[in-house]
Amino acid sequence: MATSKKSARKWSKPGMEPTLNGTGFMFSVLDEFATDFIKFAGEGPDEVLDLGCAFGIASLGALEAGGRVTACDLDQGHLDILTGKTPEAQRARLHTVQGKLPYVDLPEASYGAILCSRVLHFLDGSAIDASVRKMFSWLKPGGRLYLVADTPYGIWRKMIPIFETKKASGERWPGLMIGLENYLPYAPTDRSIDGPPFMNLLDPDLLSRTCTEAGFTIERAAFIDRSDFTGLGRLDGRENVGVLAFKPQ
Ligand SMILES: C[S@@+](CC[C@H](N)C(=O)[O-])C[C@H]1O[C@@H](n2cnc3c(N)ncnc32)[C@H](O)[C@@H]1O
Repeated sequence: MATSKKSARKWSKPGMEPTLNGTGFMFSVLDEFATDFIKFAGEGPDEVLDLGCAFGIASLGALEAGGRVTACDLDQGHLDILTGKTPEAQRARLHTVQGKLPYVDLPEASYGAILCSRVLHFLDGSAIDASVRKMFSWLKPGGRLYLVADTPYGIWRKMIPIFETKKASGERWPGLMIGLENYLPYAPTDRSIDGPPFMNLLDPDLLSRTCTEAGFTIERAAFIDRSDFTGLGRLDGRENVGVLAFKPQ
């Protein structure tokens, strides 16, 4: 999943920073779930965890707000850039961990909040379930989990009829797309970034189910309007899904 600098530049758009490993973009405009995570990080005494942090858009916000942050990503290059961007005075409050969901191990009952934004759709179903179970174990009792993921209703909208048919027939992971060339949002000739081998698109029902099965109580599960994504054609306000869930006390 290597991305050449040339192709990354080609796909660079305002507010969208291409990852180094072909796992999409980091967005500079925060959604309501990331904003709430940052606010929580600044208000409480508890350390927070940003999973799949990329270059740290949410981690940097949480540090700026006064929080203590563990930032985790599978790509050490992303973490190095985050560390370089962190003001010297805030570095003692940042801890970085290179690791891959669902295999990474972090200390149990340690965090007041976890954000995992736009990562889970790169995992297969059992890895999503296993990752969320681990997040449950890493949170302190009463801790909050913020999940954000891609849906079929954004750039992958060619998937909508298949997703809805599979979901209606009871398939557990109706958004699993293998053979991404069939679902490319752009004409293949325009596409020069190597992408992930599959995507597993989610919606509020699917993410809520995973959280509930892991032991969480759902506070909010909703589509997120990301029609601010530029240059992606017609969008309908359901581009991402977000969940806020609590670990019981
Ligand atoms: C689309 S970016 C999301 C960045 C940021 N969280 C945001 O919402 O803008 C996906 C990030 O997740 C990381 N990632 C992908 N799969 C992962 C996995 N299995 N475990 C940990 N990090 C992963 C990638 O390296 C990349 O930095």
